[in-house]
Amino acid sequence: MSRIPKRLKAAAAAATATALVALPLTLMSTGASAAPTHVDNPYAGATQYVNPTWSASVEAAAGRAGDATLAAKMRAIKNQPTAVWMDRISAIAGNADGNGLKYHLDQALAQKQGSTPIVFNVVIYDLPGRDCYALASNGELPATDAGMARYKSEYIDPIAALLGDPKYQDIRISATIEPDSLPNLITNSSEAACQQAAPYYREGVKYALDKLHAIPNVYTYIDAAHGGWLGWPSNAAPAAKLFADVARTTSAGLASVDGFVTNTANSTPLVEPFLTSPTLQVGGNPVKSSSFYEWNDDFDEIDWTAHLHSLLVAEGFPASTGMLIDTSRNGWGGSARPTAASTSTTLNTYVDQSRVDKRVHRGAWCNPLGAGIGERPQATPSGYASSHLDAFVWIKPPGESDGASSEIPNDQGKRFDRMCDPTFVSPKLANQLTGATPNAPLAGQWFEAQFRTLVQNAYPVISTTNPTTPPPTTSSTRRTAGTRASPAPSASPTRVAQRSAAGA
Ligand code: GLC
Repeated sequence: MSRIPKRLKAAAAAATATALVALPLTLMSTGASAAPTHVDNPYAGATQYVNPTWSASVEAAAGRAGDATLAAKMRAIKNQPTAVWMDRISAIAGNADGNGLKYHLDQALAQKQGSTPIVFNVVIYDLPGRDCYALASNGELPATDAGMARYKSEYIDPIAALLGDPKYQDIRISATIEPDSLPNLITNSSEAACQQAAPYYREGVKYALDKLHAIPNVYTYIDAAHGGWLGWPSNAAPAAKLFADVARTTSAGLASVDGFVTNTANSTPLVEPFLTSPTLQVGGNPVKSSSFYEWNDDFDEIDWTAHLHSLLVAEGFPASTGMLIDTSRNGWGGSARPTAASTSTTLNTYVDQSRVDKRVHRGAWCNPLGAGIGERPQATPSGYASSHLDAFVWIKPPGESDGASSEIPNDQGKRFDRMCDPTFVSPKLANQLTGATPNAPLAGQWFEAQFRTLVQNAYPVISTTNPTTPPPTTSSTRRTAGTRASPAPSASPTRVAQRSAAGA
């Protein structure tokens, strides 16, 4: 990846030859004593902030594990970096669920080791009419002009004021911008709540980008759902266009976006190691035509990030645009994980036996039973050049619920979504049981039973002998990107309404 800062690249593209020559001088005169340069990949060469509150939850769970191996695995990951979610206005100052933003920024400064940069992952998540296609993470602000006004003045402005404090200029702040919001406008625009929210999502994301991009040490990553949601060409191309359209409304245009983050709070695998060709014929049909993949070529997040990146570049984003993948819960290890491709000659049996993703349906987003922790956070993972990865990150803190499995009164606007109820047969999942973990608390609350499963089913397996060294990734079976075939017109569902979990 190029070392040239993205903002400089964008500026250079628009500049004349004379201005280009002058650019380094400008930097030299202001850069030495002022804010650090905005780099291409903030994660490269940096550590990441460890949330002490999450670590304490993990330590407490380890103390209650009742199983020495499980406890050791929990302790081996308790100092992994996880994102801090600004999931309502009160989260900025701090509330019963956690410390405020200033606390975390101060802690991040304290965790910074010498001159090694540190990345602080924060999630911007409070749009008016939030989570318009589901109920579990509905928010506090209504999709109205009044809700929009509060989003700006009581949410984004105070966040930007804190992040812009020169005291924190040495922290590289990576902001995940509004999980699920723009993706919902691609697939769920037939839903009244999404129609009502649409203009506010666009305006809110624009406003957040404008305010956050103005701070040189903030890096903006727009949420781009996951492959099981937007992978179909009929979803992917309009999504890339929508991202570009919204970015173009900002004062810096496309340069206001540093990158995109996929799989936020979802469990789509990084790699499907035994399903490496969507066009492989089994029983006379390509594997992508199976019930599970529904003609979607993007079986995993490596597929999706590579696919999306190429579309973004076609929309005008620079090739340096970086991708993040939330690998906090997409591990799919444990005893149910296949160790080889199936030998069945029946298509659906072949796919179901070969896939590591054990959900009943790729639209199952709420506390999926059987999922495990995925790759540990790491910068510039190797082996996936077409995906242009800045990092694997843990945006959804493992152990925090995606939604309650029954009605739980609360003052956050969250509601009971039956996708979180394991007894519910959902029409959104081809009339199958949801596969959600039972007895789940409200979205965002600590859910220890789920955390135990996530640790047990981690893939790569959590090593207890050398907790600081992440196990190697499995990249040997990657298929090359760019071999994506178009779906057969007669069988391809258009805009299949999928739902991810960020909301979660
Ligand atoms: C969900 C919740 C939110 C929480 C986040 C991280 O989106 O709605 O409250 O902070 O997950 O667990």
